[in-house]
Amino acid sequence: MLTKNPLARRASYPAELRSIMSIEQAERSRTWLSHWDQLTAGPTPLRELPALAASLNIARLSVKDESVRSPLGSFKALGAPIALVRLILRMFPERNLDALALIDGKYANLLKDFTVISATDGNHGRALAAAARSFGCQCVIVLHANVSQEREEAIAAYGARIVRIAGNYDESVAEAARLAAENNWTVVSDTSYEGYQDIPRDVMQGYGAIAAEILAQGNVAPGQPCPYTHVLLQGGVGGLAAGIASYFWEFFGEHRPTFIVVEPVQADCLYQSALQGRAAAATGSVDSVMAGLACGETSPLAWRFLENSVDVFMTISDDDAVTAMHQLAGKQRDDVPVVAGESGAAGMAGLAVLRANEALSAETGLDASSHVLVINTEGATAPSVYRQLVGEPHESVLARQAAWLAR
Ligand SMILES: Cc1ncc(COP(=O)(O)O)c(C=O)c1O
Repeated sequence: MLTKNPLARRASYPAELRSIMSIEQAERSRTWLSHWDQLTAGPTPLRELPALAASLNIARLSVKDESVRSPLGSFKALGAPIALVRLILRMFPERNLDALALIDGKYANLLKDFTVISATDGNHGRALAAAARSFGCQCVIVLHANVSQEREEAIAAYGARIVRIAGNYDESVAEAARLAAENNWTVVSDTSYEGYQDIPRDVMQGYGAIAAEILAQGNVAPGQPCPYTHVLLQGGVGGLAAGIASYFWEFFGEHRPTFIVVEPVQADCLYQSALQGRAAAATGSVDSVMAGLACGETSPLAWRFLENSVDVFMTISDDDAVTAMHQLAGKQRDDVPVVAGESGAAGMAGLAVLRANEALSAETGLDASSHVLVINTEGATAPSVYRQLVGEPHESVLARQAAWLAR
């Protein structure tokens, strides 16, 4: 399903939004992040997939590969640490803490009794647990019934205390809020709600690093045209899409690319927001193989950035995502193989769905001259799920990737 957003416009980035998220703040986050030892040094690869582009009959397909952002396996490693740094700096204004020393764990003594908590469907919780451990504070993660044991273990490995509930993601968010109020802990969530905006803003701002790297890798200077005609962004609560779209919007103004947000059909909260013209809830079961995108509620703060910048909202099936995982694993074509997890492949899946249908391609302006950017937001964050869905372990895809790159 697809809907064109009637509120989308081509205009310069509004000052009101710039006061919330800006390239300037994104750059500061990026500098801080470059000192965190849990991130891979340097930018993540921006891969060209000419064979896949040819099969989709587009001019070029570029994939920003966030699977190698960090051993945490996803782009979420950019959000939680920045939110935690900024939160701690705000908590102790009189101490004049140094952000880099904080990231290095130099204030562990000061922070040893400070506890952060969050609900997660995997990736955000893993990133928060890792950041808390690096900085020296305590971390509690609330998991809903559908988060796999494998994902739980990956979070617990970073020293977080796990609380498992029987309900769904939205109930885990409520439980995290309840536990925080009861124990005087601080919620570090990647989604906003009434009266809770600063922390999710900082999480989204951290994602701006991806956009900054993409433009630097393409040597795009301010004032130059955007090399991409279309950018497909997968949506959970909308934070990733807001972090990337706002950066591109501020950089290119009215000449920004076409943004298309892709969600699982069972968790279509952003699609519903476009239909209703306000941050809305999903209509489906909110249960998808794309675990990171299985979110029932739009982040209202993210929606403020998306409502005028995203041209098209679309939904895909779980099968579409699995097909895209296969396509990116690159066995069928002579492109560099990429390990894309279930949520990581969703942007690519959206593109394939659009190109398989002439009317949808026409509606979204995709044609043989399009240069499309997608972001592989995660690798095999649940290795057994990856193996089962793709039919080979991610290690063997990585081995083929290494061989391809070495030739
Ligand atoms: C791998 C992956 N991709 C995309 C997203 C979507 O991000 P957001 O919830 O900020 O829209 C998530 C969210 O958890 C994710 O884990």
